[in-house]
Amino acid sequence: MCGIVGYIGPKEKKEILLEGLQELEYRGYDSAGIAVIEGNKLHDYKAIGKLENLREKTKAYKSEGFGISIGHTRWATHGKPTELNAHPHLGAYSYVVHNGIIENYQELKTELQNEGVTFLSQTDTETIVHLFEKYYNVSNDSFPAFEKTIKRLEGAYATLLITEAAPDIIFFAKNGSPMLVGFDKDEVYFASSDTPVIGKATEVYYLEDGEYGYVHEGKVHLFDKNGSKSFTTQTLSADKILAQKDGYRFFMEKEIYEQSRVMSETMMGRVLDDAIAFDELDENFFEGISAIKICACGTSYHSALTSAYLFERIAKVRCDVEIASEFRYKDPLLTQDTLFITISQSGETADTLEALKMAKRAGLRSLSICNVDNSSIVRESDAAILTRAGIEKGVASTKAFATQTMVLWMLALYVGQEKDTVSKEILKTEIGAMLHTPKALIVTDKLHEKLHRLSKRYLHGHGFFFIGRDIFFPLALEGALKLKEISYLHAEGYPAGEMKHGPIALADSELFTIALMPKTMHYDKIKSNVEELSARDATILAISPEPFDLADDFIQTTYDSHPMLEFFEMMVVTQLLALEISVRLGNDVDMPRNLAKSVTVE
Ligand code: BG6
Repeated sequence: MCGIVGYIGPKEKKEILLEGLQELEYRGYDSAGIAVIEGNKLHDYKAIGKLENLREKTKAYKSEGFGISIGHTRWATHGKPTELNAHPHLGAYSYVVHNGIIENYQELKTELQNEGVTFLSQTDTETIVHLFEKYYNVSNDSFPAFEKTIKRLEGAYATLLITEAAPDIIFFAKNGSPMLVGFDKDEVYFASSDTPVIGKATEVYYLEDGEYGYVHEGKVHLFDKNGSKSFTTQTLSADKILAQKDGYRFFMEKEIYEQSRVMSETMMGRVLDDAIAFDELDENFFEGISAIKICACGTSYHSALTSAYLFERIAKVRCDVEIASEFRYKDPLLTQDTLFITISQSGETADTLEALKMAKRAGLRSLSICNVDNSSIVRESDAAILTRAGIEKGVASTKAFATQTMVLWMLALYVGQEKDTVSKEILKTEIGAMLHTPKALIVTDKLHEKLHRLSKRYLHGHGFFFIGRDIFFPLALEGALKLKEISYLHAEGYPAGEMKHGPIALADSELFTIALMPKTMHYDKIKSNVEELSARDATILAISPEPFDLADDFIQTTYDSHPMLEFFEMMVVTQLLALEISVRLGNDVDMPRNLAKSVTVE
């Protein structure tokens, strides 16, 4: 997904745009660009790669006086990461930035080319600015021209357009992709999320799908298919402090170290002495619910998979988990007695959002577990439980995964309470373990140093197998994903018992096996699976409270009283292992190639 910013007002605009884009860079960093109209003069700059390249290119430029401005950081969907494909896209006298996918762009492009328009880029976005100018050239009236343009677009878009034809107006439209409007007296900001406007705007309005309009002289004119409409802003909460690295090498590293603290915050007021409470859920929220279906993507999908074991084992409720991009097109069987849960760190992942809209159209009750308040998925759901992980900047998700899994563990107990399927003893045991979780997440220097040292032996094999059983299978998937995301090495997560049905064929000394061997869950079973691999000379890194002689490397964990405590402690080991291997390979851990923090396009 891309990041969009906009500003209209008297302040120096280059810095406002670049700072805003800096906050959004984790969304996509193939290229970036800005465009400013001040005193009827157009200024635009584009650069390939990270934002610092654009900052370098605009070093000599400084905007003066009142003006309008837009900016963009790109995650390529159509056309390679080149300067020509970078946004803003220029028409003859207008500029446009866009986040999303214009699905009918080819048809529009052909129509415009047949009318003599020359396209400079391979992007879908460029059709927007040429369409606008086509209509403006006829009507000489900018807003109707913009309105006509928007009505021709199909697909997902958050877009800003500026034009010499109306040098004191920013035109905007939102459908599917996120965008908000920020206000500070008569200055107006636009952004894909709230981090760019923190400390700048005091009030915000989160645009809804199908809304569009323009801002002129500090006033926002909002429309949807029914015409002009009013809107209510909300105060931008000040507690969203801007994330700094605080001395860590990477945001991901800092976020791994933050897990212990944010876990306590996520449990605050929810894990009581002898019960679980969720203020976010109405009393009879689970009435008539006899099954759960969860939809998510990426790391969030792995926390969903983990929870399926807990919902069935603790709450005795059937739980199915689906990958959102598959769910959307499988014409699923949905029944009213099913609660539809979506899990998303960003709350903006398009596949998960569309899956939620499908379930709602089918009349299912919906609950989202999300880390960003007021995000599209939160606003679309009947109820939302926020993970309190704080801003997560590392593209590879860590603390969001940990807090999602905790919320799901709490929710399984809560459902058990509501449906009277969990005994007081089990409730007490689970709550006892929950209260120990923040400790199990503390990263010791000894552990980190050990993983730093042994990581040098795991740089050049022909692949990794992360193996585990029960809830440790999804954790194995997550461990493998972390390594893939930031080291670019091939890794797979596998149910340990499944190895002998095929994958063990890859076993030799060049195959690195990361074995999750908890004491409290099927230890003997996983031990024999690892012995089968060791017998075929696989290189074994065992993670367990129980010493394991056959291991080539061994990480001894501390917690051996409860599966979830072992889960979280081993999670930290797999996160740090991926981090240290990637650092040794010289990769940009926070902004790994080809990825984005969440993808708002299909
Ligand atoms: C990917 C991110 O784009 O989206 C992953 O790189 C993330 O880290 C996945 O897990 C799903 O995102 P979200 O925000 O819906 O949890």
